[in-house]
Amino acid sequence: MEIKFSQDFNKEVLVINMFEGEKTEQELANTYAIEKDGFEGKLGQTYLLHTYGQIPAAKILVIGFGKKEEFNGNKMTEAIAKAIKKLKQIKAKTACFSLNVGLKYGKEAVIGAYIGDYAFDKYKTEKEHHLNEISFYGISEEDINEGIIFGEAMKFSRNLVNEPAEYATPTKLAELASSFEGLNTKIYNKDEVEKMGMGAYLAVARGSAEPPKFIHMKYSNGNPKKRIAIIGKGLCFDSGGMDLKPASSMLTMRDDMSGAACVLGVMRALNTIKPQDIEIHGIIAACENMPGQNAYKPGDILTAKNGKTIEVDNTDAEGRLTLADALCYASELEVDEIIDIATLTGACMVALGTVASGVMGNNKELIEKIINTAKESGEKYWELPMFDEYFKGLKSDIADMKNTGSRYGGASAAGMFLKEFVSENIKWTHIDIAGTAFLEKPQGIFIYGSTGAGVRTLLNYITK
Ligand code: BES
Ligand code: MN
Ligand code: ZN
Repeated sequence: MEIKFSQDFNKEVLVINMFEGEKTEQELANTYAIEKDGFEGKLGQTYLLHTYGQIPAAKILVIGFGKKEEFNGNKMTEAIAKAIKKLKQIKAKTACFSLNVGLKYGKEAVIGAYIGDYAFDKYKTEKEHHLNEISFYGISEEDINEGIIFGEAMKFSRNLVNEPAEYATPTKLAELASSFEGLNTKIYNKDEVEKMGMGAYLAVARGSAEPPKFIHMKYSNGNPKKRIAIIGKGLCFDSGGMDLKPASSMLTMRDDMSGAACVLGVMRALNTIKPQDIEIHGIIAACENMPGQNAYKPGDILTAKNGKTIEVDNTDAEGRLTLADALCYASELEVDEIIDIATLTGACMVALGTVASGVMGNNKELIEKIINTAKESGEKYWELPMFDEYFKGLKSDIADMKNTGSRYGGASAAGMFLKEFVSENIKWTHIDIAGTAFLEKPQGIFIYGSTGAGVRTLLNYITK
């Protein structure tokens, strides 16, 4: 779908907005939708009418924006996504959105258009109906272009997660990372990873025939006033390893690289956004967790890059092992901030459902900034505790720590585990997207599959 900025009302459908209890800018809509049919304009409601030659567009679609005083960017995203879904349903090819919102929320409108239009039908013989072109009027052109960057980043990330593990291998992620323009990218192969002393990450990778790839992308522009590392969990498939998952839990485990897909989507967009005076490192320790003949075993003792030893209590708690080495690597870069994003624990999903992502970290201010940015970006993040007791549960008789403890409080225990591998003088935040990254059934404006979790929040955080 092509998105343009123009006042080209000569489209198949003219889409206009209506605030609850107010009139629209089109007399036809006021007469039919409001007066005759009592259309209320509640958020996300739509009303379609034929114009029979009275205006250039063949149809008018009225979209409800809800109460004017409650309207905001997130509601814009929701309303536009719903409008696009309706346009697809009536098999429209072109539409012009004429929005009466005082030039605001253009970026959020375009993001909504991308979400409403999204389908993963690459492998279907019969494709879904898609719009060819839409244009926006009444919001700023600059905002629209920013929305396109965000929309494309989300789409890229969602596609990569939805792809089968057979396609989205560690090698594929490395190839993609290397193909992005405007970045300085280094891929470390197994031998180099070994030389760097990443014993925890390598142990996880050992059971798979797919070779691990440690990916480090670097963006730098001007005189960096701030240096940030974003780390994505990149388990291209998580079978659980020797502690094999039951079939029903394994089914969607191609999504265990959603953190990596988020980081890739964000890094790919930086060359277009070109944020100033900042340095951003995108880091992914990509591999698969498989029970092959070389697989690591429960009871093994691993040594991470910072020298700390870990007793393997459960091979299915693999994400934290790969992240441990990635966090050590990022700490050595001496950045100001580290943000990791990971489909880390089923426990986080039990606590927050598919609605919210869990946030932990070592710096209250950064945690709050990330949670607030998420709120403005249309995502819901919620802080989970990091009490010392959670780490006590990981006490090992033979190593510095175990990789798992009690089933209870599992998301916080995982957070405490990660903390062991971050330099204390670096601000760090961990985002657990286990519940939010991949939907097994549609939710709100999102269809089955990947949601692009984290992309909007991290892009906004970096560019603000
Ligand atoms: N990738 C999973 C976590 C997950 C669960 C992501 C559900 C998305 C949806 C992770 O590697 C895992 O298996 N965690 C275990 C940890 C346990 C063994 C302590 C879990 O949550 O069951
Ligand atoms: Mn696992
Ligand atoms: Zn996993």
